[in-house]
Amino acid sequence: MDEQRLKADYERIFIDEKHCQILMQPYRAAVDLVRAKLNALDDEMHCLYGHTPIHRVQSRIKTPQSIIEKLYRRGMEVSMAGVEKLQDIAGLRVICKYVEDVTYISALLLKQEDITLIRYSDYISHPKPTGYRSYHMIIEVPVFCQFGKVMIPVEIQVRTIAMDMWASLEHNLRYKAEHDDHDLYMERLKVAADKLAEIDQEMQDIYTNINLAWQKKESL
Ligand code: GTP
Ligand code: MG
Repeated sequence: MDEQRLKADYERIFIDEKHCQILMQPYRAAVDLVRAKLNALDDEMHCLYGHTPIHRVQSRIKTPQSIIEKLYRRGMEVSMAGVEKLQDIAGLRVICKYVEDVTYISALLLKQEDITLIRYSDYISHPKPTGYRSYHMIIEVPVFCQFGKVMIPVEIQVRTIAMDMWASLEHNLRYKAEHDDHDLYMERLKVAADKLAEIDQEMQDIYTNINLAWQKKESL
């Protein structure tokens, strides 16, 4: 990585730390907004059904360095206009308990009228060749600043606890795997992902059956 080029581009786009804070503020506001929506949905499900579908929410704002590196990688204009074209500066990861919670939470978010879906990738119905599973959405949300409304893109990855466990470990292992054995390890990781998907389905079935039994008991 050309450190000098990176520094020059940082100073040209973001100027300094204070300006960087200002430029990134709408992205922080967008993350807070989506987080609040997720909390409200989880709370509503708890009140209605005694089930909290969301296990955990993680969020991050891309660092200026990784923003600039992504512009280089993609061959995009290295300017504020280029930065504004990136759709994953604001990112949230929603870790749900059961597979059906992933579908449910994603659908409920998309139903909200101030959320605009830009694109989605369903890596649960169609896992990546690596074995990676998650439901990805790029949405836009309105953020109000002193000059008016700005639409901010947010990347949301929705997955189960099992999918998250796999993705977190695989991410580290991928880079550590020795070159000679790389393919073998990648294949084993793929097999592990498929096994976890079976376990996810089994946990879903157990949950559904227990709930049906409870509902029957309560209606007696
Ligand atoms: P990016 O430039 O990486 O955002 O590409 P993209 O817009 O085509 O996004 P994609 O749908 O491939 O998802 C990108 C994100 O999903 C990554 O930043 C990871 O967080 C996650 N991801 C995608 N594939 C894998 C994978 O095989 N393993 C793991 N651990 N994570 C993955
Ligand atoms: Mg991305």
